[in-house]
Amino acid sequence: MTNLLIVDDEIEIGNFLSHLFKSKGFNVKVVNSGKEFSKIDFSRSNFHAAMIDLKLPDADGLTLLKDLKKQQPACKAVIMTGYSTIHTAVEAIKLGASDYIEKPFDDIDILEKQIDQLLISTGSTTRQQINDLANKIGLIIGKTPGMNQLIETAYKVAGKNVIVLIEGETGTGKEVLARFIHGASQRNNEPFIGVNCGAITESLLESELFGHEKGAFTGASHLRKGLFEIASKGTLFLDEVAEATHSIQVKLLRVLETREFMRVGSENTLHTNTRLVAASNVNLQEAVQQKKFREDLFYRLNVVHLNIPPLRERKEDIPQLIQHLLQRHTNNSITFSDDALKVLQGYRWPGNIRELSNFVTRVVTLSDSADAIITPANLPLAINAGTPIKQTEQADLELHMEGFLQSWVEKTLSAFEQKEEIDLEEVLAQIKQLESVVGKAFIKRTLKETHGNRRETAKRLQITMRKLRYILNEKNESN
Ligand SMILES: Nc1ncnc2c1ncn2[C@@H]1O[C@H](COP(=O)(O)OP(=O)(O)OP(=O)(O)O)[C@@H](O)[C@H]1O
Ligand SMILES: [Mg+2]
Repeated sequence: MTNLLIVDDEIEIGNFLSHLFKSKGFNVKVVNSGKEFSKIDFSRSNFHAAMIDLKLPDADGLTLLKDLKKQQPACKAVIMTGYSTIHTAVEAIKLGASDYIEKPFDDIDILEKQIDQLLISTGSTTRQQINDLANKIGLIIGKTPGMNQLIETAYKVAGKNVIVLIEGETGTGKEVLARFIHGASQRNNEPFIGVNCGAITESLLESELFGHEKGAFTGASHLRKGLFEIASKGTLFLDEVAEATHSIQVKLLRVLETREFMRVGSENTLHTNTRLVAASNVNLQEAVQQKKFREDLFYRLNVVHLNIPPLRERKEDIPQLIQHLLQRHTNNSITFSDDALKVLQGYRWPGNIRELSNFVTRVVTLSDSADAIITPANLPLAINAGTPIKQTEQADLELHMEGFLQSWVEKTLSAFEQKEEIDLEEVLAQIKQLESVVGKAFIKRTLKETHGNRRETAKRLQITMRKLRYILNEKNESN
């Protein structure tokens, strides 16, 4: 028999839920306060599911949830919440709650379904669904606990109609995550439409979002539907939302509060049912403090907040990401040596996964053969040096060693000054890297001067042809 625990201070709700689930054959225990909860002897009762009210007069639902999960990790917990506390309900999901239910319950069928689903879905089936969807979307979840938890939260809230705000540095995958949320929602057969608030002028953005009537302004030769209308059943992705001007922010606030809007040049109010996912690569809370973003709009958007970590905080995922990015290019079986992967993991990747993707594209385009093995010597100087550079400077830097040398000297000196935890192997590996990078730079420059004449290059540099090939990593020295 299924054992269900209900924690709610409202006696009526406790009675109602108890009656509802007893009639379905459940064994139900109701407690009305934190104090009663603390008296439960968990060694004697084994709960399969729990419904916990977020606000109790003598306790906080989140604390009870944590306590319950500690005592009985396998117990599925659902948080009951009023609209004003959805934000906290999302926190509860991050703490291990499986779901949340909004009070008042307006549809008992939905409530029953939620509990049924909760009891059938084991952790592993949800995990499988998440992985299948991520595969379909082309989203690599990877190994880091932070990213895994983020995706799980995203998956759980996707089915709710709440607004999601995604923050993260440029290129971390905000749009990919927005598509994942759309794919995990019941709206996945409806359109997913994105608009970048920073890419077009204010008036264009206004008519893009809300539409316009014929003749609303010069050039408005036809009636045009706005995205709030077109994506009414689907998901509207508001990218770079921090870039929206003050006047657009006011209009967005209105539509989020009332779900109503007007086309430019029209007095008729229209209704929208769209699900909004907003993204920003600047910290919106800071933008509010700097008075660049409206506080009220921020609170409207910040119901579910997902913060994607930068790539440098999920370095262990770099090999898997590279593998995925290589597969986007057909007809290649390029691989990276372990050393090369190590170097790539040591780089800061300021442009995150987008920069990694551009890097992989470059490797595929520049590789001599489709089954090349990429070693550290094939990597750009900046990546070898671990210092980010602007992409436009990349080619120049190939011949320009200053940055590399400076950072190499700094790294080596700081390792020398450090008295504890010295990894000499690491230092020696760096010295080898220096040899390889510098050697390559000399050869490349000379090759350029000699218009690619290798014999002439070897002569000028007073090395053998074999040594030249070795430095260019074309052959082992022993060959
Ligand atoms: N988790 C991921 N798995 C696989 N590919 C990813 C992942 N995240 C991002 N990418 C890839 O990285 C690139 C950038 O992703 P996306 O456009 O979603 O980033 P963004 O955060 O929206 O960037 P920006 O702030 O510049 O708009 C895309 O090519 C995308 O497919
Ligand atoms: Mg983007």
